[in-house]
Amino acid sequence: MGKALIIGAGGVAGVVVHKCCQNPDVFEEICIASRTVSKCEALKKKLDGGKTKIQTAQVDANNVSELVTLIERFQPDIVINVALPYQDLTIMDACLATKVDYVDTANYEPEDTAKFEYKWQWAYRDRFKEAGITALLGSGFDPGVTGVFSAYAQKHYFDEIHTIDILDANAGDHGYPFATNFNPEINIREVTAKGSYFENGKFIETDPMSIKKVYDFPQIGPKDIYLLHHEEMESLAINIKGIKKIRFWMTFSQNYLTHLQVLQNVGMTSIEPINYEGHQIVPLQFLKAVLPDPASLGPRTKGKTNIGCIFQGVKNGKPVTYYVYNVCDHQECYREVGSQAISYTTGVPAMIGAAMVLTGKWKRPGVFNIEEFDPDPFMDALNRFGLPWHESFVPELID
Ligand SMILES: NC(=O)c1ccc[n+]([C@@H]2O[C@H](COP(=O)([O-])OP(=O)(O)OC[C@H]3O[C@@H](n4cnc5c(N)ncnc54)[C@H](OP(=O)(O)O)[C@@H]3O)[C@@H](O)[C@H]2O)c1
Repeated sequence: MGKALIIGAGGVAGVVVHKCCQNPDVFEEICIASRTVSKCEALKKKLDGGKTKIQTAQVDANNVSELVTLIERFQPDIVINVALPYQDLTIMDACLATKVDYVDTANYEPEDTAKFEYKWQWAYRDRFKEAGITALLGSGFDPGVTGVFSAYAQKHYFDEIHTIDILDANAGDHGYPFATNFNPEINIREVTAKGSYFENGKFIETDPMSIKKVYDFPQIGPKDIYLLHHEEMESLAINIKGIKKIRFWMTFSQNYLTHLQVLQNVGMTSIEPINYEGHQIVPLQFLKAVLPDPASLGPRTKGKTNIGCIFQGVKNGKPVTYYVYNVCDHQECYREVGSQAISYTTGVPAMIGAAMVLTGKWKRPGVFNIEEFDPDPFMDALNRFGLPWHESFVPELID
């Protein structure tokens, strides 16, 4: 069917590459390109010899002309961006210059400001439309599957959805006193930022980790959940009919929060550069260098994740409640693709989103969030590619 250029060779990219190779009728050829080419070659070595042909390349994704040269050489039908959110705009610029479709899993944030919002990428709408190419934004799990779940609920079970609670639980234990499950810099920027929720047309800010509840997750049990700001709330607030309230909840252990508090108190999570013995260093980037590499957590992590959404609203004038979620086992993911469940739950939807565009099911000129497309083929693919989902119409609710 087609060729995909995969940018990045970290934890998520490793899963994307495995999953493209499991879907060779769609992904006939892939090129894995990243800053450190040895990581691309290691992935190729693991998976070479199957039906999907694999190439590798070195690229600095901050550099548009390097990206354009690579795209012109490899001639992909789609670019899957699983580098870092800082590279979203340069990669979108290169896709525009070469008229190639684009998929990512996280919205752009400037490196020097811990603020993530869609305005920068939404500003590309007219240019992508005029170029006749598709940009699919946020095709991971959250954002990603949470938006597909919302579109599915809206299509099949509701006339109007009034509230959405997105619940992200990780009950995995990697045995380290402190480590993050995906890129530590991005992860810590996210969890130390102010929280927020959407209510009656506006976002209300909260102090970091100031709203805590306990939720009894299917297959995992009771966990502390904290209200966070999360990027999909911004697009769901626009795209879900009749929506009045959206909240995003994530589990954290007391141990994780205590370590984070100490690191924050001593200044290690700051993104302001400091001078250290004549070198400019960013404390958070230095912290990333001393923390365990998330890609190395796979063999050690035991337990499950549970990510899903609870919807409340009306159908035919009657109140409806609907919970849809996926449970993923860290060890099973490791056995299948050599990664823990956080990379797995992001990499599988990234491959599926790219396949939706490549096969023409979701091909539409412009820049789109995932809930703007027909959710049914994506929901079907989740079941086939390792992220089966479960439904309940009588879930426990969050007050
Ligand atoms: N939506 C979701 O559910 C979700 C969940 C988790 C993560 N994510 C997103 O997934 C993405 C990947 O996360 P990850 O955990 O795989 O991160 P990671 O392990 O740190 O991998 C990032 C990769 O990008 C490469 N890279 C960084 N800067 C680059 C540049 N300028 N040019 C070329 N390559 C560059 C890195 O190269 P080096 O090897 O040289 O460092 C690395 O291979 C991030 O954007 C993250 O926010 C989304």
